[in-house]
Amino acid sequence: MLREPEARDRAAFIELLASPEVHTYLGGPRPLDELEREMPEVPERWPGSFVVELDGVMIGQILLRRASEQHRPAAAGKADLGYLFLPRAWGFGYAAESCAAALDWFDGVLPGEPVVLATQSANVGSMRLAAKLGFTEVERYHAWDAEQWLGLRSPVTPSS
Ligand SMILES: CC(C)(COP(=O)(O)OP(=O)(O)OC[C@H]1O[C@@H](n2cnc3c(N)ncnc32)[C@H](O)[C@@H]1OP(=O)(O)O)[C@@H](O)C(=O)NCCC(=O)NCCS
Repeated sequence: MLREPEARDRAAFIELLASPEVHTYLGGPRPLDELEREMPEVPERWPGSFVVELDGVMIGQILLRRASEQHRPAAAGKADLGYLFLPRAWGFGYAAESCAAALDWFDGVLPGEPVVLATQSANVGSMRLAAKLGFTEVERYHAWDAEQWLGLRSPVTPSS
């Protein structure tokens, strides 16, 4: 299930953001004590931020937000998809299923808009997921000491 963050998700958000495994290709985790101090009682809510819930418990987060002007020119101003799942939920297809549902939601809210996705090319699981979701390569570039992959999902055109 996709839903907005609630107070009961706080511990899972902290676990997600403090996990070295989750952040292997994301520049490293945030310190646990800092997260315990700074995470609001109800994790921040905004349109495009989804908690992924399985059997009543948060297993991950999906983010759809506008790429800022600092991004690659091909991505600037476009909607950007991000995803983080707790390692115990990896490998069951939950990420593919829930990201596809979030993209369906997006297509309904902003029909005809493309979506971009940036990931390290060494992040094999993320690369496979991006391909499964219909993203195709725009470019590869070097940043943060690693090769980065920028993908684009073209707008879905309504069939007649
Ligand atoms: C990237 C991530 C969401 C993938 O989650 P997941 O639960 O493995 O994804 P799914 O089960 O939906 O699988 C998606 C595909 O990737 C494959 N895959 C996942 N991890 C893999 C790995 N380490 N090596 C090879 N393939 C992998 C799956 O087998 C599946 O492909 P298939 O159906 O063709 O077999 C998860 O590993 C994660 O949260 N990583 C940390 C955060 C992160 O790096 N996010 C990317 C930021 S852009």
